[in-house]
Amino acid sequence: MLLEKYSGGGELNIILMGAPGAGKGTHAKDISELYKIPHISTGDILREEVKKQSELGKLAKSYMDSGKLVPDDVIIGMIEKRLSEDDCKNGYILDGFPRTIEQAKKLDEIAKIDAVIYLVCDDDILIKRLTGRRMTKDGRIYNIYFDPPPEGVEVFKRDDDNEETIKERLKVFYETFGPLIEYYRKRGILHEIRGDEERSVVFANIKKILDNIK
Ligand code: AP5
Repeated sequence: MLLEKYSGGGELNIILMGAPGAGKGTHAKDISELYKIPHISTGDILREEVKKQSELGKLAKSYMDSGKLVPDDVIIGMIEKRLSEDDCKNGYILDGFPRTIEQAKKLDEIAKIDAVIYLVCDDDILIKRLTGRRMTKDGRIYNIYFDPPPEGVEVFKRDDDNEETIKERLKVFYETFGPLIEYYRKRGILHEIRGDEERSVVFANIKKILDNIK
């Protein structure tokens, strides 16, 4: 029913927000498939640049490996370019952006955001999810504890999914998310849901929100 509702057009610009491991990438992929809008993950774009060893990738790597935020001007330039591409005409789902007030303000200059969904999760679950996460080269996300990869599927662990970097990523998140949440709460477009329920339950709650905003 939702597919029928959205496949005919209409813009749907969504932000998925949450701590590292809250499930942003997992659910963004499902939303992208259902609503036929691109999933734009600043983390994924940066990891591609690191792999290509581009100038941007070289610059970003040291920040990413230590769990720190890549500077705003770099991220903003990157996202402006991505949002101007043709496939963003009917909307998009942003994962990992914005992460600072400066990024949020810049986004307001170039887009009208319909909903911000904040996935709330307890730290012990976040840590277990991140240490257990495994990825495939084409971006599928598995977890050795909750959703093991099928036998024979080749997986790898992200460079920043080690305990030391996870600790720093969580610290950075807790230092920065408060003002951002308030920014969107004041605008009346913030939706907080639990991200630590079963995957199908979390996704059903996301669908309910998106169904109501159009
Ligand atoms: P980024 O790639 O954005 O990483 P992150 O925010 O740390 O988030 P993750 O990708 O680790 O977690 P997720 O919420 O997507 O969880 P997932 O769905 O995979 O950023 C990486 C780095 O890039 C940053 O540290 C920074 O340096 C830089 N960067 C990126 N954007 C930036 C920006 N805007 N500004 C500055 N710097 C930026 O799920 C995790 C695991 O849990 C998976 O194994 C999954 O299978 C499992 N799982 C998920 N949901 C469930 C569920 N409901 N039940 C059971 N298991 C589940």
